[in-house]
This record gives sequence, structure tokens and C-alpha cells, in this order.
Amino acid sequence: MKIQIQKATLNRVQDHTLIIPVYQQGTKPKLPKNGAFLKGLLTKLQKEDIFDGGFKKVAFVRYAKVGKSDSILFLGLGKKDEMRRNRLREALITASSTLKQNNVLSFTFHLSSCELHDKYAIDTLSQVSAEALVLPLYTFYKYKKKMKENSGVKSVTIAVDTPEHLLNGKKGISKAHHYIDACNLVRDLVNTPHNDLTSVKFADLAKEEAVKAGLKVTVWGKKELEKEKFGAFLAVNQASDTPPRFVILEHKSKVKDAKTVCLVGKGITFDTGGISLKPAANLDEMRMDMAGAATVLAITILAAKFNLPVNVIGFLCLTNNMPSGKATVPGDIVTAYNGKTIEILNTDAEGRLVLADGMAYADKNYNPNLLMDFATLTGACVIALGNQGTGVMGTDQKTMDRLQKLVCATGDRIWQLPIWDELGTEIVSDNADLRNMGRDRGAGTAKAAAFLQNFVRPQTPWVHFDIAGSAFISNPTNLYSPKGATAACVRLVAEFLATL
Ligand code: BES
Ligand code: ZN
Ligand code: ZN
Repeated sequence: MKIQIQKATLNRVQDHTLIIPVYQQGTKPKLPKNGAFLKGLLTKLQKEDIFDGGFKKVAFVRYAKVGKSDSILFLGLGKKDEMRRNRLREALITASSTLKQNNVLSFTFHLSSCELHDKYAIDTLSQVSAEALVLPLYTFYKYKKKMKENSGVKSVTIAVDTPEHLLNGKKGISKAHHYIDACNLVRDLVNTPHNDLTSVKFADLAKEEAVKAGLKVTVWGKKELEKEKFGAFLAVNQASDTPPRFVILEHKSKVKDAKTVCLVGKGITFDTGGISLKPAANLDEMRMDMAGAATVLAITILAAKFNLPVNVIGFLCLTNNMPSGKATVPGDIVTAYNGKTIEILNTDAEGRLVLADGMAYADKNYNPNLLMDFATLTGACVIALGNQGTGVMGTDQKTMDRLQKLVCATGDRIWQLPIWDELGTEIVSDNADLRNMGRDRGAGTAKAAAFLQNFVRPQTPWVHFDIAGSAFISNPTNLYSPKGATAACVRLVAEFLATL
């Protein structure tokens, strides 16, 4: 798909469809600058109660016979003084989803008509616009024989009035392009079924993509994990016919005294629950249990592409979680990389086991200034936050506050949950140092975090992202997020790393 920016006043845009942003003044749509040619049409639409410029309202007029474009999509922005970049993002998602549904192949959005360039830099506005217009167009067509790769929207253009805006806008578009590629990589990986994305295939693919981006890549198999005593990780892989993979991706900055950030991802390529077998309903969705690892891969690739002045080291913990005659059973006790013993009381709480070793290894060997982990970790997080946001927990309050502020910039939502002290005592085992689940069903998300905290040294600032709900949408309740993988946290955390 082509994503581009061009210079053209509103009355000069020539494309299949032109998206025209329109504010609401009182109860009526306000005619945009250079929009005299729209006056008759807009008045008619308003008189017939079709379009009043209200926020997120759209009117798609095919073959409008005004201006130089074939068709027009009027996009309501609501009241001008309420306009923020996040509202612009939401409105554009609506516009783009509408055009996708109507099989439009090419469209232009006239950005300058929003008159927001005194409020935000033009590169920010063009980045927001490109992301909001292009991300909703994703479709997972890999296994649809009839759907050719080039079906769907082919060209998205952003139009601005001045040469200066064109120049700065290009920077925003280029950044958006990298973000979109990264998000769509995550979406493809997460949507791909287990038979085509085993731990071995995931590692091979991750290596290929990471090398292309200029990262240093190390891939470990079972032998290395045994040698390094990843006892918790290996317990999860124990019943599998597919070997585990631990992938280390390194972006090293040339900047002197650069900070180091470690990102660790849960990569359960399929979670059956193991001997604590999951029920059959919607079990197919457990192919998404590697979303954390895909997220880490994408963010590390972005760090390399943008050549960020921080060392970003990604760790992917890859295995499936299967039952068999060789399987770990409830009550088994294993020793993790950092020497702590864990009583596995539920083999379905496997994510925290692979992360325990991955995090302890990253922490000890890379001594990071910040450690973040990403995991589809708990069903409880889906209950708490639904598909709309990521649960965030940890010991680094400053980073969590900064991330929360970036939510407005990216539209990628997080919400913090507390790790109260009592939760830590609940995961102390009668027979070992720790147990991998609580003693009741309460606060399951934070209890999992309390467990993970045992695998980060107290002096290392740490943030945990539970993306169980946010990474995958099974029943989209609105147009904004297409069904399936969402690539939650990728843009948010990449933006955050860029501020370090
Ligand atoms: N992968 C699941 C969590 C999950 C559930 C992700 C729904 C996405 C959607 C995880 O491994 C799991 O099964 N967790 C258990 C933990 C429990 C046994 C302590 C859970 O949440 O039920
Ligand atoms: Zn599980
Ligand atoms: Zn899982």
C-alpha cells in the first residue's frame, strides 16, 4: 500500500475519494477553508439531517459532482475547541473503516482543513493521521486463496496546504510507516495458527526480520537452556514435541553511557493449559499467547530502525504448552534461573514460568536501567479491562506515569493496577519458595505480577504489561479494531523509548 503526502488546497485535491474534515458550529457544519465549492452539498446534507459536523459522524457521497475528486467523505470533528489529537485519531479511524467497508481503493485526507497546526506540530499531525487511516485497513488474508495480496485500499494520501507543511509532514509519514509495518508484523504473527508458527518457526522468522533491521541475534535451543538452568521455562516445554527457543535481539547504541532497556516477551505459541487443560470453547484463540514475544520483536526492530540512543535488548521466550505422558503435573517443584524454587500448582499458569527465567537472565546479564515484560498473562486482566486496554504493574512508578501521559499521543491505552504487599505473601508456597498461582481467584492479574517481581532484582526498575485482553479482539463491538490481533503497546512503548 502506498502512503504519501502531497501539497494541495482543498479545492484542488484529485483522488477517488476525498476525506473532508468538518467542524460543527452551533448545530451546523462549518464550511472549511477553500470549501466554497462544497456549500450547496453541505447545506443539503444538513437540511436533510444527514450530516451536521458532529464528532465522528460521516457522510459518504459517491460521485459527488463537486470539486476534482470523484467521491467525498465528510468527516465530523465536532466542536473546534474540543479537538485534540486523540479525537482526530478516533474520527479518522471511523472515516477509514467506512471507506474500507465501501471498498474504496484510494483516498486523500485533507489535513490542513483541520486547522490544528498552531496546536500541534505538523509532523505529529501527519503521523497521527497516517496511523489512524492505515491501521484499521489491516486484513489477515494469508490463508484466503481468493483474496489477492493487492486487494483492499491501495493508496492513502494526506494533503497539506503549504510547502513547509509538506516537508515536515514527510517526517511524520515516514515514522508512521515504520510503526504501521511493526504493528502489522505483530498482527500477522499473532493471527497465524500454531501449525504455521511453532517456537522453531517463530525464532527463524524473528531472526530474519531482526537481521534485516540490523539487530544482533542469538538463538538458543533446549541444550543452552539446560546448560543455563532455565528450570521453570523447561518445565513448560517438557511435554512438547517442539523444542523451546530463547531469542536475544540486541540494538546497541553508539552513544556513550547509553541506558539499557531490556524487553522480555511471553511467547507461548499455543497454550492448551497443559495437564491443567483448558476448556474447549474458543481454545483456538490461544494461538495468540505469543503476542508478548511478537510485541518485543517489533519494538526492538523499531529501536534499530530509528537508531534510538538507548541500548534495547529483546528476549523472546518461545515454546508451546502441551499435555502428554512426559508433562509437568500439578505439585511438581522446579528451580528457576535465579535459584528460587517454584511449586507448579497449575500448569496453565505457564507464562509466568517462562518469563521468570527470561527476566532473571536479562536482569543478571544485562544489568538494565529498566526492565519491561509483555505477556498475555491472565484471564483476570481480560475481566478487569476488557479488550480496550493493557494492565500495567511494576516497581517503576515514574516510567508508568510517563507511559500514561503518552496514551494521548498514541491512543494505545494502559491502566495501572497495584501490587499490594499481601499479594506477595499469597504466592509463597508451603513446599517451595513460591507457588505459581494464588490461593483464591481474587486479584489474579496483580498476583501474577507479584510472582514475576521475584525474578527482578529490587534495584532494577521494572514495568509489567498484561496484554491478555488488549492484544486480541475476538468480537469487535465497533469498527475501530478489526477482529484478531491488535499490536497493543507497540507504538506506545516505541514512543516512550524515543523519549529516553
Ligand atoms: N494465556 C493465559 C491467559 C489468557 C487468558 C490470555 C485469556 C488471553 C486470554 C494464561 O496462561 C493462563 O491460562 N492463565 C491462568 C492463570 C491461572 C491458572 C492462575 C488464568 O488466567 O486463568
Ligand atoms: Zn495458561
Ligand atoms: Zn498462557
